[in-house]
Amino acid sequence: MNIITDPTELQRQCLTWRRQGHTIGLVPTMGYLHHGHTSLIDRARPECERLVVSVFVNPTQFGENEDLSTYPRDFDSDRAKAEAHGVDLLFAPEPGVMYADNHATWVEVPRLGANLCGATRPIHFRGVCTVVTKLFMLTQAEVAVFGEKDWQQLAVLRRMVRDLNMPVKLIGHPIVREADGLALSSRNAYMTEAERAAAPNIRKGLLKLAEKARNGERDCEVLKRFLADEFAVTLPMGQVDYIEIVDPDEISPVKTVARSALAAVAVRMGKARLIDNILIEG
Ligand code: PAJ
Repeated sequence: MNIITDPTELQRQCLTWRRQGHTIGLVPTMGYLHHGHTSLIDRARPECERLVVSVFVNPTQFGENEDLSTYPRDFDSDRAKAEAHGVDLLFAPEPGVMYADNHATWVEVPRLGANLCGATRPIHFRGVCTVVTKLFMLTQAEVAVFGEKDWQQLAVLRRMVRDLNMPVKLIGHPIVREADGLALSSRNAYMTEAERAAAPNIRKGLLKLAEKARNGERDCEVLKRFLADEFAVTLPMGQVDYIEIVDPDEISPVKTVARSALAAVAVRMGKARLIDNILIEG
């Protein structure tokens, strides 16, 4: 496996591969790779001849009071996992080489990035779109895989790719979970034992909400209140950031579950901010 830290060198290598007729696949990550990330890598592997994984804790998607400096990192482990899953090239740049001091260009999808995580993280999706665009330009990827755990991120990126005619196919991959239902996340490492023990109740609550909807409750206010009451009992140490039911493509709030709807939540458990979602079929 090739390891590259310099963006220009990455671009040169990928342009050479493209000229040789190879299809390039990309899995962007912020590292501290877990089974969720490696399942995206496994999903991407058969889609391309050259597979690039990026490990880059992107500073522009973190707010001032967020966990940029404490975000978990373990490059040796990331390298071993990438290698074991057949990655051809690991791109691991330093922030200074990704963003010039006078960087001035941003890619934004304001409407889709304003609700849910965008409400409490106003610059987050602008940072995500900008870094993913840069990674697409650097790698010349024709296919890229993203997780449905970050459903809003995937919806924002799909819209960006469509609106700007980017020549890359996006593949969404289902959420990978622990045996007890907790969605895998690098930030799970922040939790205390007690918080970790309660955290699967996020998934349990979402499953109950979906069941209630399937059984005929279509009023989103009722469904959201139901979940808030559930969390008050099952996650007493959790601070709900949001409980929303939105259109899965537009990420805009819906009043009733008609066709399909996405129930999405963010809950702060001590130092960890956990997100999860479930698609409710109408
Ligand atoms: P990161 O949080 O490291 O996630 C990288 C990719 O792994 C994302 O597509 C995310 O949705 C996916 N992922 C994380 N946990 C998952 C799980 N439990 N099941 C399935 N997929 C999972 O998302 C980012 O990094 C960044 O915003 C990035 C896209 C790299 C841009 O900086």
